[in-house]
Parts: sequence; structure tokens; C-alpha cells
Amino acid sequence: MDTLIKSQQQNAVDTFPLKGTDHVEFYVGNAKQAAFYYQKAFGFNLVAYRGPETGHRETVSYVLQQDKIRLVLTGALAPEHPVAEHVRLHGDGVKVLALWVDDVEYAFRTAVARGAEAYEAPRTLEDEHGTVKLASIRTYGETIHTFVERKAYSGPFMPGFEVRSNWGTVPDVGLKFVDHCVGNVELGGMDRWVKFYQDVMGFKLLVTFDDKDISTEYTALMSKVVSNGNGYVKFPINEPAKGLKKSQIEEYLDFYRSAGVQHLAIATDDIIHTIQQLRANGVDFLRVPDTYYETVLERVGAIEEELEALKQLNILIDRDEEGYLLQIFTKPLQDRPTVFFEIIQRKGARSFG
Ligand code: FE2
Repeated sequence: MDTLIKSQQQNAVDTFPLKGTDHVEFYVGNAKQAAFYYQKAFGFNLVAYRGPETGHRETVSYVLQQDKIRLVLTGALAPEHPVAEHVRLHGDGVKVLALWVDDVEYAFRTAVARGAEAYEAPRTLEDEHGTVKLASIRTYGETIHTFVERKAYSGPFMPGFEVRSNWGTVPDVGLKFVDHCVGNVELGGMDRWVKFYQDVMGFKLLVTFDDKDISTEYTALMSKVVSNGNGYVKFPINEPAKGLKKSQIEEYLDFYRSAGVQHLAIATDDIIHTIQQLRANGVDFLRVPDTYYETVLERVGAIEEELEALKQLNILIDRDEEGYLLQIFTKPLQDRPTVFFEIIQRKGARSFG
């Protein structure tokens, strides 16, 4: 794959400082069962809960954590609740990509002044562990970004949540942090959303792939990647491109019924261990033909891992100017063919495979 790298000059001052990803919240049809699945299949620990037992009567949320990754699984307790409406339209999916900031008031005010659409004005939550400040803006589809300021908070997640522990044992999977979050947008929407992240949050355009790069008989897409000032938050934005068959992006948009989050890429520092464990737990992955491994080293050069081990586990290999990466994609995580996980181990490469 020919990759056209277009690095733009970094500004001397980051005018929209983000410390990283705070959490990713899914709206789901059955939060309890989803939480059990992500715990038992993917090795997340249950750390906090909010629901009727804690005095919250409209929704229930389970907070799962693994190293620096925090997932929140939220379901509605009544059919007229907006969470239920979201699930009816989209199926289970990502509603919130929450971003960790030092100053919620500044982030919200700046984003809105630069053209973002407000979703929820700044508010402060408080309990005996301190305060958390939150505010939200809209992005593509029905997805939102919530800014989270938690420097005055020592509780398990946020005020209103109580500590919870695991249902039985949790497998050791070794997932570390969110590497990137990918959005699928409508045909013609990619440049608009790239501009949104550039204008509103000062993101830089990292990479452009066009349909000559990512095009097969079966699928085609166009993708641009934007990244924040410190490089911890990376958002590839995809739009469909014409292929002989319907593109995977179009299929996503048909089933999700709008733009939305396509995948979360989660980093590990031992992908062989991680994928062995995930496969043992029953996680399904996309397959590449065995013939892929006959020629892959001619394309990517020497690697430290045993090729046979990667072939056994069906792990993909790619290389850029700075090194290589190992990656694999799960099948969809819910009934509709929409959101999935990528597991990635970077060995110097900063591209996306
Ligand atoms: Fe990815």
C-alpha cells in the first residue's frame, strides 16, 4: 500500500490541550450482559456502577477498566428514555468519546466559539470523593465528545457511581490504552469532519489514504487521520469510496443508520499473548488467507516475531518509514455489523495499517 504522508507543521502552542481519552461510553440494549461479555471475553475489570440501587432510576451504567482503557456500558430502564431511542435506531454503539482535560470551562467555551455545536453545558458533579466537571459537544452522527475534568476527584469513576468488583475471574488479556478511534461518515463528509477537528480542537492532519490505496474487489474507502497536540488522541475519519461490491463503510452506515464510531483500536505490548487469550475466550476475528503469510515478509522486511505464530493467530503485519506494526480486527461486537475492536502492537510504526 502506498501511503501518502502529509505532516503539517506543529503549532508551537497547543490551543486545545487534551490529556488523552477519558472513557468510551456505549449505549446498549442490556448493559449487565454487555458488561459481563466485555469482562469475560476482553479482560476488563468491573470497577464502578450507577443504577437504581444507587438512587439513579433512568439508566444503568457499568464502568469497566483495563490499564488506561475505561469503557462505560449504559442501558435505559424505560422505553421513552433517549438511551433506549438511541439503541432502537443504531443498535448497540458508541455514544460518547470522552476526552480528559484540565479545564472543562475552557474546552467547552473554546470549542463552541470555534463552531462546535453544544450538547450539554458545563456542569459539576459532587460526592464525598470530590468533584468532576463535564461538558459535551456534538461530532459526527449522534456521537458526542464529553470533556472530563477530574483533578479534584478521587472516587472510582464519577460522583453518583459506586465501587463494584468483578463477577468471578477475569482473564489476563493485556490491553493497555486506546490507540485510535475511527469514525465512519457519509460520502462527502470526510473533509467536513477533518476540518471540524482542525478548526475546533486544533487537530493536525496526519495521513491521507485515497481509494487507490484502500481498494479491493470487495471494499473501498477513503480515510484521513487527525491527531491532537500531544498525539495521544487520534481520529481516523472514513468515508465510502466506490468498489465492485458495496463498501464496508456503506454497510456500516446502512446498519448504524447514521455516521458513527466504526472501531476502537486498543494497544497491547504483547499481541501474541493477547490474541491467544482472546481466542481462548471465544472472541471472533476476521480471517486473512494463509497465502498472505507466503509473501508478507517480502513486503514488510524482517520482524522480531516468529511468522508461524502470527500466521496461527491470523495477525497482520504492516510497515512504514519508522518501523512496523502488528494488528488484527475482531468481528462486530454486537448483532449489527457495526462497531468492532482492532488490537494493535506498534513496533515503531506510527501509521494505521
Ligand atoms: Fe484502526
